[in-house]
Amino acid sequence: MLLGVTGGIAAYKTPDLVRLLIKKGFDVRVAMTKNAEQFVTPVSLRSVSGHRVLTADWDTQEDPFDHLNVGAGLSVALIAPATANFLGKLAHGVADDLLLTTVLALECPLYVAPAMNPRMYANPAVQENIKTLTARGITVIPPSAGAMACGDEGEGRLPALETLVALMEKAAGLNADLSGKKIIVTAGPTEEPIDAVRFISNRSSGRMGVAIAEAARERGAEVTLIHGPLAVPVPDNMTDVPVRTAKEMLDALTERFAACDMLVMAAAVSDFRPARVSDAKVKKNGAELSIALEPNPDILERLGRMKGGRVIIGFAAETENLLANAREKLMKKNLDLICANDVSRSDIGFDSAYNEVHIIGRAGEPVLLGRMEKRALAHRILDEAVKLLPPSRAAAQG
Ligand code: PMT
Repeated sequence: MLLGVTGGIAAYKTPDLVRLLIKKGFDVRVAMTKNAEQFVTPVSLRSVSGHRVLTADWDTQEDPFDHLNVGAGLSVALIAPATANFLGKLAHGVADDLLLTTVLALECPLYVAPAMNPRMYANPAVQENIKTLTARGITVIPPSAGAMACGDEGEGRLPALETLVALMEKAAGLNADLSGKKIIVTAGPTEEPIDAVRFISNRSSGRMGVAIAEAARERGAEVTLIHGPLAVPVPDNMTDVPVRTAKEMLDALTERFAACDMLVMAAAVSDFRPARVSDAKVKKNGAELSIALEPNPDILERLGRMKGGRVIIGFAAETENLLANAREKLMKKNLDLICANDVSRSDIGFDSAYNEVHIIGRAGEPVLLGRMEKRALAHRILDEAVKLLPPSRAAAQG
């Protein structure tokens, strides 16, 4: 594959990206712009890729046709990070450096991963260029949201390297370890109404569940996302099942569970709901108001009883005795794996772009997956989950 690197701060991540790609079996050729050299050196990229790097300096090219030769036989090409400048030039067919001339001559699928300041990314000119590139069949990988190096917050970060690697594997036909599998993921909070306008809920944004749904789709699964109200958009190319209450989530899952191969339950389901719901808005009259709560069904516990050969993965949201409480839930709910996260921390868990989990299986020691972006963590969790799926018939025969 070809990795094109342009001059954004995220270029410093590309040696790690090359290392991860090589680990997955890619032979990576790197081409970089002059500005990219401000953030990462050709020597670093040559060291990790094991190949001469194509730079903007024509004089150092061994062959004057390098920009044409490098494209021959490629499975896929990725430009990461792709700056606003690069996107603009590519959208208009400008070929004023070696990377652009190389990319214009490519015949393989091309992916670009824009990474820039959120205000630059939102600029209509940049968005128009992205539309143009998409219309030409180039896959534009949406950037992640979060804190930027410049101090701004918003959409513009280079996606987790694991996400880029999974996309490249899929594009090159290397990673389809969930292909043919039906996976249900739940995400977000439930809302339990008190009256016509009020409800009980929690701080779940849905980011963790959405990241897992997206990662499963990237690995070839047929994904159904059953979710409460989300703070993030539902990704494309999956079945979208919005629900509100725990009861609705149970019904949606009961209807679909039998047909799935795997369930990942990242939703923060409310354990209680008001015993009585008023159709009208409850009026204040100066007196105290008590709301009686009754328990909601434990969805995972019910589905755990109908598990059969399916893989079930739960989450444990704990504020104390993290591992012991999570282990108890794993056994009680008949799960294969549980991801224990400490929700007393503000730098991970609820409504954060990051999480840290201990993955606990039915045997063996817990595995700590240290603090990382939820999109990266999602792939790490699926790496463990895939090992539990029964071998597909084709693999078993072959
Ligand atoms: O949504 P984000 O902002 O990204 O935050 C992510 C998260 C913190 C919500 C997520 O990582 C997480 O921990 N999700 C599970 C939250 C939870 O409900 O944990 P619990 O320990 O109360 O429940 C254990 C398991 O049983 C969970 O898989 C839960 O989905 C499930 N459950 C809980 C209650 C219930 N009535 N039915 C259930 O099935």
